[in-house]
Amino acid sequence: MPKRILSGMRPTAKLHLGNLLGALENWKKFEGEDSFFMIADWHALTTEYASHTAIKANVIEVVIDYLAAGLDPNRSTIFLQSLVPEHAELSLLLSMITPLSWLERNPTYKDQIAEQKGKDLMTHGFLGYPVLQAADILLYQADAVPVGEDQLPHLELAREIARRFNHLYRKVFKEAEAILTKTPKIPGLDGRKMSKSYGNTIDLSDSPEEVDKKVMQMVTDPARKRREDKGHPEVCPVYFFHTIFNKDNEKTVAKECRAAERGCVECKHEMANHLTPFLKPIYERRREIAARRDHVRDVLIEGSKKAKAVAAKTLAEAKDAAGIGI
Ligand code: TRP
Ligand code: SF4
Repeated sequence: MPKRILSGMRPTAKLHLGNLLGALENWKKFEGEDSFFMIADWHALTTEYASHTAIKANVIEVVIDYLAAGLDPNRSTIFLQSLVPEHAELSLLLSMITPLSWLERNPTYKDQIAEQKGKDLMTHGFLGYPVLQAADILLYQADAVPVGEDQLPHLELAREIARRFNHLYRKVFKEAEAILTKTPKIPGLDGRKMSKSYGNTIDLSDSPEEVDKKVMQMVTDPARKRREDKGHPEVCPVYFFHTIFNKDNEKTVAKECRAAERGCVECKHEMANHLTPFLKPIYERRREIAARRDHVRDVLIEGSKKAKAVAAKTLAEAKDAAGIGI
């Protein structure tokens, strides 16, 4: 088991089932004394700078999501990036040694610009997104970073930046490994990847009734226009969730779908009957926690103090190595 873990999410929205299965459930496995879970509000600002008013509210919502999903602030450090100014400072220092070409060829950079249509992302801050992420990771001397596959280019850049710094000055930073989540991409209501930008999510803050309603709206195999049409469960998002939440019956569901022996409506009901009991305790815990906003703020403030103690030490070493300050 790797020692020090760091990961984070951007507070651009409340978290959804995809975040839970793809990230939080994985984080929980590594949770312990030496794990750091961040809310990356500076990173949110790189794309939301023109509609920034939601960021503050989402910071609180995301902490509530973290806690409701079972992260425990007594076991790990839950903190807010902007409350630890060392992130911004190390990011500036690392920006001095990061070649522009590394940032320009970063595949997620081009993907995001294409995906986030309507936002002007031709900014210094957005190009420097991976430099800030490298600072997040390197400040804590993380051994490993649990992330989804889409973050691999950022992790590789963080390692390259660490190597370059250590080579130019002296060895200050550790090269962190990625820990990839095993759960495959979680489909949303429309069958595309579950993502806030597609508006196809089931949120942790959705009530059991809302979850049921959303399941009934899900797309199924388009080949099943009529009840008698034979289906292909492998292309159906409803089936995907059967394989996670209704494992005991997954083979029967697939067989009956292929033979047109079950209708999509009944199939959805069956799936919702397994999904809802899984989400309901999280929803209820979420409501309890949300009623104690002061506690939520305290978690962040205390966590950020703990984080700062670690970050300040690394930053001092890095500045000294680079010959900045007195
Ligand atoms: N870029 C990550 C994402 O979009 C969020 C993030 C910011 C992050 N800093 C990090 C993840 C450091 C891991 C480690 O999901
Ligand atoms: Fe999907 Fe179930 Fe319909 Fe098959 S029967 S297409 S698995 S919802």
